[in-house]
Amino acid sequence: MNLQEFVSQTGELEARGTILVAGAESVAELELIRNKLVGRKNGELVLLMKALPSLAPDDRRDAGFAVNRVKLALESALADRAQSLSKSSATAPPPDLTMPARTGWTGARHPVTLVIDEIQSIFRELGFTVALGPEAESEWYNFTALNFPSDHPAMDMHDTLYLGDDTLLRTHTSPVQIRTLQRYRPPVRILAPGNVYRRDFFDASHAPMFAQIEGLAVDEGISFVDLKATLTHFAQRFFGSTKTRFRPSYFPFTEPSAEMDVECRLCSGSGCSGCKNTGWMEILGSGMVHPKVLEAAGVDAERYTGWAFGMGPGRIAMQRYGLPHIRLLYDSDMRFLSQMSR
Ligand code: PHE
Repeated sequence: MNLQEFVSQTGELEARGTILVAGAESVAELELIRNKLVGRKNGELVLLMKALPSLAPDDRRDAGFAVNRVKLALESALADRAQSLSKSSATAPPPDLTMPARTGWTGARHPVTLVIDEIQSIFRELGFTVALGPEAESEWYNFTALNFPSDHPAMDMHDTLYLGDDTLLRTHTSPVQIRTLQRYRPPVRILAPGNVYRRDFFDASHAPMFAQIEGLAVDEGISFVDLKATLTHFAQRFFGSTKTRFRPSYFPFTEPSAEMDVECRLCSGSGCSGCKNTGWMEILGSGMVHPKVLEAAGVDAERYTGWAFGMGPGRIAMQRYGLPHIRLLYDSDMRFLSQMSR
């Protein structure tokens, strides 16, 4: 190779190399091109340098200058391209510091929870503590121990989802009566809040899942007078002065049984859809604990008596907040709930 050929090869490498470098689309591609052009082992520039000794000694100086110029040109092109590629990979838009901050999302208690808390605090003053039981319950606790004969029509109102042969979604909080009496000897005074499930369709005052609060008082000498007095006291405390009435009723696990109504506060007793035009809202079922229930739980029914109730805090919330439909409480609509919650 003579000097002229050598210099023209360096010119060709510089021209082709700078075009290649400028066309690199990514850092990885640029590295491949760098290696091909100026890589130490088999880069094209190195191959040219290796040809230097084959030139006539007088030409080597000029050839060296030519090679060096290409080297500098390629290196600076590579550096420029590397810089612009790294800039464009960081072109995610900068944060918009003028954007308003998301304000904190503050949770609040559900209106039904507020009602349960308030009921608990009234009963706490009367010496009641809180007990809890499982929502997935066995037939024995939900029915058998509560004196439901398995073919009794009272079962119709307690249709529910079975989770297995013997496990069901409890239809009421009454199983907690049994669980409590098995664990603690009388005197017992408990409230048991929790969710229950029934094959009920939505109407103004029914939902297939709803909250209940069970109450249970068992001791020596407890009578129906205690039941009426306690529940009337509760209604006065909770609603302020209100009319209440007890209606005879039937539950397999209480005898005698009664339901308590409060005058409907939505219509002041004149009748509306919330109270099915009766002017009254049923808020609880109650009665004297059936001796068979005490015995199922291992309590001496000759010595002890007791009363129990199950109330619906959802219905009580309807009364408290003037809600026409119980479903409002269970739809989880924030526009509604945020008006109710404190
Ligand atoms: N468990 C009954 C129901 O859900 C309510 C109740 C509880 C009645 C305790 C009497 C005593 O309908």
